[in-house]
Amino acid sequence: MAINKLHNTGKIGICSDHAGVEYKARLISYLLGKGYEVVNFGTDSTDSMDYPDVAHPLAEAVEKGEVDAGIALCGTGNGMAMTLNHHPGIRAGLAWNTAIGHLVKEHNNANVLVMPARFISYRMAVSIVREWLTTDFAGGRHQRRIEKIPLPR
Ligand code: RB5
Repeated sequence: MAINKLHNTGKIGICSDHAGVEYKARLISYLLGKGYEVVNFGTDSTDSMDYPDVAHPLAEAVEKGEVDAGIALCGTGNGMAMTLNHHPGIRAGLAWNTAIGHLVKEHNNANVLVMPARFISYRMAVSIVREWLTTDFAGGRHQRRIEKIPLPR
């Protein structure tokens, strides 16, 4: 299923480190309630852990098409975004409010949404997720721009 068409349907992969684990659990319930399939890549503990250990498996699942899109949470969002964006098939975009949740899909067609769990409310996280899932990629000049993101080979 195309990332552009995730309106209450599709398979979403989700991961967090210890800083995002509570929001992740709540978002899984939210997504299941909306009709999405959800694949949880962990962590499921508040014990300190290293975000790349869950970010790489999520990125690989998105790249292989095993899930339609991904959501990742850590304290600032930066560790997750930096790790995910090492994968050539990933455009991970950081969003901390609803407007950026909209634009990260409309302009950047982010196939992984990253959020800073320590700096936003859970209510804001849900609002961002809803906006990102239900916004369409605009294409056009934005398609040209995202095609220029990978390093030339
Ligand atoms: C964990 O303390 C914190 O470093 C992590 O959640 C994240 O913010 C890293 O980018």
